[in-house]
Amino acid sequence: MRAMNRRGFFGVLGGATVAAGVGVPLLSGIRGSTSAGTLLASSVPLPGRFTLPLVTPPVLAPVRSDATGDYYELVQRSARVELIPGMKTEIWGYNGIFPGPTIVSRSDRPTVVRHRNELPVPVVVHLHGGRTPPSDDGYPTDLLMPVGSAAEHQHGHDPAAVITMGERDYRYPPRHRAATLWYHDHRMDFTGPSVWRGLAGFHLVHDAEEDALPLPRGDRDLPLMIVDRSFAEDGSLRYPSLDPTLKTPGVTDAYGAGVLGDVILVNGVPWPVAEVSATRHRLRMLNASNARRYRLALDPPPPGGGGLVQIGTDGGLLDRPVRHDAIEMAPAQRYDVVVDFGAYHVGQEVTLVNEFGAGSTAQVMRFRIARSAKDDTRVPEKLSEIAALNPAQAVVTRTMRFRHDDVRGMAGWTINGQPFAPDVVHARARLGTVEIWRLTTDFHHPIHVHLAPFQVLSRGNGGPGSYDRGWKDTLDLRPAEQAEIIIRFDGYAGRYVFHCHNLEHEDMAMMGNLLVT
Ligand code: C2O
Ligand code: CU
Ligand code: CU
Repeated sequence: MRAMNRRGFFGVLGGATVAAGVGVPLLSGIRGSTSAGTLLASSVPLPGRFTLPLVTPPVLAPVRSDATGDYYELVQRSARVELIPGMKTEIWGYNGIFPGPTIVSRSDRPTVVRHRNELPVPVVVHLHGGRTPPSDDGYPTDLLMPVGSAAEHQHGHDPAAVITMGERDYRYPPRHRAATLWYHDHRMDFTGPSVWRGLAGFHLVHDAEEDALPLPRGDRDLPLMIVDRSFAEDGSLRYPSLDPTLKTPGVTDAYGAGVLGDVILVNGVPWPVAEVSATRHRLRMLNASNARRYRLALDPPPPGGGGLVQIGTDGGLLDRPVRHDAIEMAPAQRYDVVVDFGAYHVGQEVTLVNEFGAGSTAQVMRFRIARSAKDDTRVPEKLSEIAALNPAQAVVTRTMRFRHDDVRGMAGWTINGQPFAPDVVHARARLGTVEIWRLTTDFHHPIHVHLAPFQVLSRGNGGPGSYDRGWKDTLDLRPAEQAEIIIRFDGYAGRYVFHCHNLEHEDMAMMGNLLVT
């Protein structure tokens, strides 16, 4: 089918004119910009800031729980929802909402999620940050076809693809530490527009180690999915797809480096305000944007500064807390922070600002300190144990070059000069071994590896940066930078991917196969 036809993809992108078109945002992107990409402005008047209340996505109840695990069901469907006050926006959502329902798991319990596809296109579900068997990891060609679609659609260009009609289970075995994970669409060539339309949700994992810590919990533990979007005058989402039905891939020339919106949504609400007590709160910040990077800070900062106390990241708790004045977040990354609103006075307003933004994107949300309350939480000096992977144990050092490239005479993005194709293997790793990957780049690329979390060894000639601590699954690689990461391939053998998580880059071939044997 066409969705898997790479020749069709590059054909759609066209020839030399496209190469020139992509070149322009690239150059402007390198000079002083903080995100790869081009702004797609809304044509609707932007909604007011800090007037709409923050909501948190509903927690999904299991349909069944027994000795074999917890069973959930989700229906992927389109829905008309109110994102901009007074307007209706058609989204694609898990259970018809954006963000999708939050799945909450225990690390020692198997979780099974049954997905039913009532959308007009195939989908693929990936649990980002999960250590998942290859059959359930959401390989980009393992399509879940729409309910009732014809069998002829089953034939693709990837003979190894597993195609399912209508409904399927994704099985997540119980072997993850507590962490803020998320699930999202991962269909080859179409992840950008699908996530933009709303196919993303939280999947939180708890464990006994985290339970034993005196951290804020309950309604003082807030997942915050931060995205940028653009809206047309009728309230619909704008996205520069060449084919709005998402049957053939590609975006218009100007957006080949990434799509940036001018409306910031937190949990689907534009610039929300949250009323909080003057106590510690845990904020699980996820950058689910397609291409936008953020530098988040509190305005005003609390007396003495260091108001963002980082306790966790992509792969769960850090070994010890790190105090930041600001946190830089690339797409797909998670930063768990504790903010002590007790450092402010009741009635005060504190804005979460984006120092990488300009105009409407310079602000994210606001907290209003509404009342005092008892607070028996604290952030202990020791949070967890993180054993450093030892570079001496690495069996191989690989170099991965991420760059804007000519792909068979057309514009695209490659890894080591190779565009993604299901049958091109970029790395073969042996199960149980440790490898060092040296990542180099021309440009901003958030590099994500499936299956195996990693640790950052170095950036340039220095050590890891201040946002690189702990177990990561996505590295914020910056222009002309070289970073080294160390990975242990534990868990499962099989076919996985690693890729740039700028979703427009990913859709334009910046993805590689990782074969674990
Ligand atoms: Cu969040 Cu391969 O993706
Ligand atoms: Cu992933
Ligand atoms: Cu990229």
